[in-house]
Amino acid sequence: MIAAVINMFSIQEINKYLNNKNLFSLEILDTVDSTNIYLKKIADNENIPEGKVVISKSQTAGKGRLGRKFYSPSGTGIYMSILLRPDLNASDALFITTAAAVSVAEAVKSVTNVETSIKWVNDIYCYGKKICGILTEASFNNQSNKINYAILGIGINVTNPDNDFPDDIRNIAASIYGTNPCPNDIYNKLIAEILNNFMNYYYNLKEKTFMSEYRKKSMVIGKNVDVNLPNGTSKKAKVLDIDDDAHLLLQYEDKSFDTLSSGEISIIPNGEI
Ligand code: BTN
Repeated sequence: MIAAVINMFSIQEINKYLNNKNLFSLEILDTVDSTNIYLKKIADNENIPEGKVVISKSQTAGKGRLGRKFYSPSGTGIYMSILLRPDLNASDALFITTAAAVSVAEAVKSVTNVETSIKWVNDIYCYGKKICGILTEASFNNQSNKINYAILGIGINVTNPDNDFPDDIRNIAASIYGTNPCPNDIYNKLIAEILNNFMNYYYNLKEKTFMSEYRKKSMVIGKNVDVNLPNGTSKKAKVLDIDDDAHLLLQYEDKSFDTLSSGEISIIPNGEI
């Protein structure tokens, strides 16, 4: 008997698992600089409706937050971006990212049975290392203060790259399956499930129904952390909670309180402050 060969990425297969395939227009590329850049080039054309999804097998210039790169080798990851045209104020853009983080964590659990946690703001961790990063880039209307469009970019390491991760990220990056082979069609199922989950949250984004799950999956609440400040220094704090606006509630060593809406923290292992 000849086993059916399932493409790592296939529009037909993804459509099979989508709850409503009419919401999306899928495009699969062999390679691209960045799926976010690809969508940004066409996003000003309002004839292109929201729901355009670009998935690439690799990226040559995958973008991360804070000007970093996102390592995007071929054959081991999912690199995808979704064009959104929400009727939202600029201040609500953060919820696209937080909803996406919960959508990815829930999809990874239901499709692969692997438990993950969310590191504020938008990294997904597993086995103590990062397996997924999310980068939302938005264009705003200065007069109305509304979002013109947003591009939600999601990068997931599904298995380890053939020659492992490069030295500079080997200690911080991991993948869902590590060095184990991953089951057939996992890529297509994961993509579809992330899109299914995300759209459920997205249509009622202002209700923030994802925030309770975001908190449950948070790996930072109750932890001692270094808060990296814009001037390059850091300050130790304890994370007290994350509020419904996805803001981080902190208490610094000097007992003063703070609320962060963006930024970067690192957990202090066994940290005493
Ligand atoms: C981060 O870890 O700081 C965010 C990483 C986001 C990576 C994804 S991969 C698909 C999309 N295209 C990009 O260039 N970046 C995002």
